[in-house]
Amino acid sequence: MYVSTLKIGDFRNITSADVELKKGINILYGQNAQGKTNFLESLYICATGRSHRTKFDSQLINFDKKEAHIRAVVEKNFTIDKIDVHIKKEDKKGIALNGVPLKKVGDLFGVLHTVIFSPEDLQLIKSSPGERRKFMDIELCQLSNVYYYNLQQYYKVLKQRNNLLKNINKNPALKDTLFVWDSQLVEYGTKIIEKRQEFIEKINIAASKKHSEITNFKENLVIEYKPNVTTDEFMSKLEENLQKDIILGSTSKGPHKDDVSFTINDSEVKIYGSQGQQRTAALSAKLAEIEIIKEEKGETPVLLLDDVLSELDEKRQYYLLESIKDIQTVITCTGIEDSIKKYTDKSYIFNVENGIIKKLT
Ligand SMILES: Nc1ncnc2c1ncn2[C@@H]1O[C@H](COP(=O)(O)OP(=O)(O)OP(=O)(O)O)[C@@H](O)[C@H]1O
Ligand SMILES: [Mg+2]
Repeated sequence: MYVSTLKIGDFRNITSADVELKKGINILYGQNAQGKTNFLESLYICATGRSHRTKFDSQLINFDKKEAHIRAVVEKNFTIDKIDVHIKKEDKKGIALNGVPLKKVGDLFGVLHTVIFSPEDLQLIKSSPGERRKFMDIELCQLSNVYYYNLQQYYKVLKQRNNLLKNINKNPALKDTLFVWDSQLVEYGTKIIEKRQEFIEKINIAASKKHSEITNFKENLVIEYKPNVTTDEFMSKLEENLQKDIILGSTSKGPHKDDVSFTINDSEVKIYGSQGQQRTAALSAKLAEIEIIKEEKGETPVLLLDDVLSELDEKRQYYLLESIKDIQTVITCTGIEDSIKKYTDKSYIFNVENGIIKKLT
């Protein structure tokens, strides 16, 4: 799939843009703080209904305006879809698909599929378990509406359970009602654990292949799902930890505490890996993500590379650019790097200055 046109109005510092994008590589270059990431962010919102940088929609609207608009035209093998996102300062955002307003954000998933890769993603391995859960969840939500629904329900129930735990502290009789939340937590949690397990098994196979290619077959990367509880023991763990949970006023066991481990040649990358190894492992995981989407959806996602080339050495830059040949890619950079020069003839190049996106001819 690819985005053929993107129209932006009053979104962050981009007051007006109407851009035709190439099916292949699109390069956005410009100095710092000009609007390059804002452009990528607008595409990401068309795919997921939310920003990758903030959960506050009001921040997305231009400082001087009350509303922002994004419109993307997505072309696939046999279909063309129009996504309209209307962000309002004083109201909920509205999303329409081919002119028809969507009832839920979840209905947008799958229309446009993006994979975003930024310098922060290179920290995937080093950062907190929450980032690794986000890696699984963002992908799984885009791949499956059912997963998105189960995840939402899980967190709703978790919040209710935690509220109740806090109240049990003051009123112990409430303890008798806890079982209602426990059984729902286990019901939704089980579905999440199963899907994450399946997803990481697939990512592991694809990433391990990428990683050995990048490292000339010297390194063996293994990615493993580390569930905080298994599906079989979830209920008993909740019971076992009840007293502790009441004191803490929060639930200590469940998939909201899951993690993913990365090992290279049997040692934990987070602890023993060099910075280069950590980055390469993250790069392999991201490239694996693209493979899974291709496999599951029969369509290639749109790849958003935010300032990531300058963070990789020449060999890795080359590998990355070679492996995205058949995918629509939007690359941001502050200057045209050597590795990318080879592709400029076949790319669209845009200069970004003070929120104005200008195509070079
Ligand atoms: N709601 C908003 N309204 C107007 N301008 C905004 C808004 N939000 C952010 N900006 C401006 O957008 C600019 C940052 O844009 P962006 O993050 O896209 O920069 P960039 O070109 O990616 O830069 P870098 O190379 O540093 O990553 C900042 O100058 C910021 O003040
Ligand atoms: Mg940026």
